[in-house]
Amino acid sequence: PVKVTKICCIGAGYVGGPTCAVIALKCPHITVTIVDLNKARIDAWNSPDFSLPIYEPGLVDVVRQARGRNLFFSTDVDKGIEEADLIFVSVNTPTKKSGVGAGFAADLNYVELATRRIATVARSSKIVVEKSTVPCRTAESMRTILEANSKPNCRFDILSNPEFLAEGTAISDLLSPDRVLIGSLQSPEGIDACESLKEVYANWVPQERILTVGLWSSELSKLAANAMLAQRISSVNALSAICEATGANIDEVANAIGYDSRIGPKFLRASVGFGGSCFQKDILNLVYLSESLHLPEVAAYWRQVVEMNEYQKRRFSKRVVDTLFNTITGKRIAVLGFAFKADTGDTRESAAITLIKDFQSEKAFVNVYDPQVESEQIWMDLQEASPLMPLETIKKQVSICSSALEACKNAEAVVIATEWKEFKDIDWEAVYAGMNKPAFVFDGRLLVDAERLRKIGFRVTTIGRPSAVA
Ligand code: NAD
Ligand code: UDX
Repeated sequence: PVKVTKICCIGAGYVGGPTCAVIALKCPHITVTIVDLNKARIDAWNSPDFSLPIYEPGLVDVVRQARGRNLFFSTDVDKGIEEADLIFVSVNTPTKKSGVGAGFAADLNYVELATRRIATVARSSKIVVEKSTVPCRTAESMRTILEANSKPNCRFDILSNPEFLAEGTAISDLLSPDRVLIGSLQSPEGIDACESLKEVYANWVPQERILTVGLWSSELSKLAANAMLAQRISSVNALSAICEATGANIDEVANAIGYDSRIGPKFLRASVGFGGSCFQKDILNLVYLSESLHLPEVAAYWRQVVEMNEYQKRRFSKRVVDTLFNTITGKRIAVLGFAFKADTGDTRESAAITLIKDFQSEKAFVNVYDPQVESEQIWMDLQEASPLMPLETIKKQVSICSSALEACKNAEAVVIATEWKEFKDIDWEAVYAGMNKPAFVFDGRLLVDAERLRKIGFRVTTIGRPSAVA
C-alpha cells in the first residue's frame, strides 16, 4: 500500500474543514491542503484572527495548532490535486431543485465537476476518497469518469469514507469516532488503497473502530445511519402528539423506553422538528433510490419520516396560534434560536425558518435572536423561504435582536426554537417584567423548567405535554 504523505481535500465546508483539520492535527507527518473555489471561505479559514467560516466548539484550537505547520487552505484547486497522493472529495450534494428527481435526488454536479478536475489535472496515481454523502454506486460513476480521462501511468483507486460527525460536536466526534467506515472494491488494488487510508486514521483511532467493507455497503450505510437516526426523532415526535392529547409526558415516556438496552437512551428528545443539512436530504435520497429500484413500499416507508417532521413543525405553529386565543395578527412573538441545533451557526433546514414563515403568514411581528447566526444569514434564509415577498416587506414584520432579553421585550409570547444553553439561564423574571400579559412561553426543545416559569407567572406550553396542565 502507498504511504500517504500529502492529502488534498476538495471542499472547505462543515465536513471538509473540521475533518481534515483533525487529520492534520493527528498526523504531523502528513501535509494536508484544503481547497475550495469559494475565495471568501478560504480567506476566512486563513484569517489572522481565526475568525473561521464555521462555528464549531474546539475547532479554532485545532486550526491554531496545525495551520501553517502541515495544514493549509487554498483556492488553488489544481495545485492541491497535483501534489496529493490522496484526495478527499468533500463537496456539497444538495437535493436537486429541478430536472429528473427534483425534490428528492442528490445533485451530483459538484461531485462530478470535482472528479473531472482530478482526471484533468492529475499527472500521477491518486487515491480518490468519496467523503460527501452520495447515493449508492456513485463511486462507480466516479471511477468511469476518472478512467476515461486519465493519462498514461496514472491509476485511480476510489474509496468511500462517509463522515458521521454531527455539527456542534464535530471535533469530539472526529477525535473519538464511534467508527470510521472505509469502503473499497474487493480487488487487491482496492484493498491496498483501503489499507493506505486506514493507516492515516490509525494514527489516533483504535484499529477495532476502523471498519472496512465493500464500496456499495459503505455508501448505503451512510444513508442508512441518517435515516435510522431521523426515524427515531420522528417516532418520538409522533408520540409527543399522543402525549399532548392524553396527558402523558414525552420526557417520561422517552426515559422509560430508553432504559431498554435494545432501544438505548440517546436521540429520543422530542422537538419542534429535526433540521440540518443532512437528515431530510439523505432520506429523500433514499426514497429516490428506492423508487428507482422499483421498491415503492420501501420508498413510502422512509418518506413518512420526513412527512412526520413537516407535520411536527406545522403542529407546533398551530399550537402557538390556538393558545394565543386563535389569533396572532399584530402580536409580537420572540423566537429564541435560529440555528438548526445548539452549538452551531448553521441554519440549513432549521425548524425556526418554518415557524417564522408560519408566524409571518398569520401577520404577527417576529423578533429573532440567535447567539451565533449572522443577521445576513437570517435575511437570506427568510428571503429564500418566501421568494415572492420583497425583503423590505419581510423586514417590516421581522426584527433581528442582539440579545434574548431584547427580543422578548413587549412580546406576547416567547418561542424556544433552538436548545441554546443560554436560554435556560436567561433572567426569566426580567423577561416576564418586559412582556405583555398574559405572557406565554412555548418550549419547542424541552429546555426550560416549566414549573419555575409558571411560578414567575408565565403560561408555559411544552412539546409532548398537554396544554390543560399548562
Ligand atoms: P458545504 O456546503 O459546507 O461545503 C462544501 C464546499 O465544497 C463548499 O464550500 C463549496 O464551495 C465547495 N465546492 C463545491 N464544488 C467544488 C469544486 N468543484 N471544487 C472545489 N470546491 C468545491 O457542505 P458540507 O456540509 O461540508 O457537506 C459536504 C458533504 O458532506 C455533503 O455531501 C454532505 O451530505 C456530507 N455530510 C455533511 C455533514 C454535516 O454535518 N454538514 C455530515 C456528514 C456528511
Ligand atoms: C446528523 C447525524 O447525527 C450525523 O451523524 C451525520 O454525519 C450528519 O447528520 P447533524 O445534522 O449535524 O448530524 O446533527 P444531529 O445532532 O443529528 O441533529 C439533527 C437534528 O435533529 C437537529 O435539528 C436536532 O435538534 C434534532 N434532534 C436531534 C432532535 O430533535 N432530537 C434528538 O433527540 C436529536
